Amino acid sequence: IKKVTTETLRKMKFDKEKITMLTAYDYTTAKMVDAGGIDAVLIGDSAANVMAGFETTLPITLDQMIYHSQSVVRGIDRALVVADLPFGTYQSNPEKALESSVRMMKEGGAHAVKIEGGKEISKSIKKIINAGIPVMGHLGLTPQSIYKFGTYKVRAKEEAEAEKLIADAQLLEELGCFAVVLEKIPTDLAKKVTESISIPTIGIGAGAHCDGQVLVYHDMVGMNKGFSPKFLRRYLDLYTEITGAVEQYVKDVKSQNFPNEKESY
Ligand code: KIV
Ligand code: NA
Repeated sequence: IKKVTTETLRKMKFDKEKITMLTAYDYTTAKMVDAGGIDAVLIGDSAANVMAGFETTLPITLDQMIYHSQSVVRGIDRALVVADLPFGTYQSNPEKALESSVRMMKEGGAHAVKIEGGKEISKSIKKIINAGIPVMGHLGLTPQSIYKFGTYKVRAKEEAEAEKLIADAQLLEELGCFAVVLEKIPTDLAKKVTESISIPTIGIGAGAHCDGQVLVYHDMVGMNKGFSPKFLRRYLDLYTEITGAVEQYVKDVKSQNFPNEKESY
C-alpha cells in the first residue's frame, strides 16, 4: 500500500483530484474509514463533543487527544493521520506549542498536527514546522474560539473578516503549512482562498470549490441525531439502525429467543 503523505495532498491539488478526509477517534472506526479509501483521517478535538458529550471542544486535554490518536494510528494502513492540538496547548507560546506537537507525534503517533487560527499563532506555527512537524491550518469557524464568536453561524460574511481570512490563508502558506481547513464560510470566499494559495484547502461547510472535503464521522453516518446543519450530508441513519438493533436484542433476551441452541455450548 502506498501511504498518503503531505506531499501526496499537495500533488492532488496540483492534479485537481479532490482530497477526502473524515474524523476518527478509535481503532475500529479508523480501520473502516481507511478501508473505505479515505485520503486523510483527522483525530478532531470534536472528540470532546461526539466521544465525551461536552457542549464545546474546549474541555478535551492533550492526554485525551493522544489516547485517541494512538488508537486511530493502530487502525490505519494508508491514510495520512492528522491530530488536532486541543485548546490551550499551543496558543499562548511557541515553546509550549512545540512541546504539545512533539508529544502528539511521539506519543500519539500522528503524522501531522492541526491548529486553529492565523496571524495570532504564527510564531507557534513557525516553531512547530521548524522542528519538522507538518502543520495543517484551520480558518473560518474555529470552534475553540466559540466564546469569542458567541455562535456557530457562518463566518466571514463581512468584508473585514473575509479580507483577514484571505490574508491568514496566504500567511499559513508562507509559514509552510501543508494544508488548511476552511470551516463554515461562504462558497465564494472559499473559492477565492483556494485559488489564491498553492496548498490544499479542505472545506467543511465551505462549498464545492475547496480542494477537499472533511466531515465528522459520527455526523456522516447519521449517529448524531440532533445535529443537522445544512452542510451535512448523511450517508447512513445509524442512530435508527443501532437503536433498532438494541431494541431487537432486548426483545430477544426477554423472550428467551436469544441465545438459542446453536449459540450455546
Ligand atoms: O475537530 C474536528 O472534527 C475538526 C473538523 C470539523 C475540521 O476540526
Ligand atoms: Na477540531
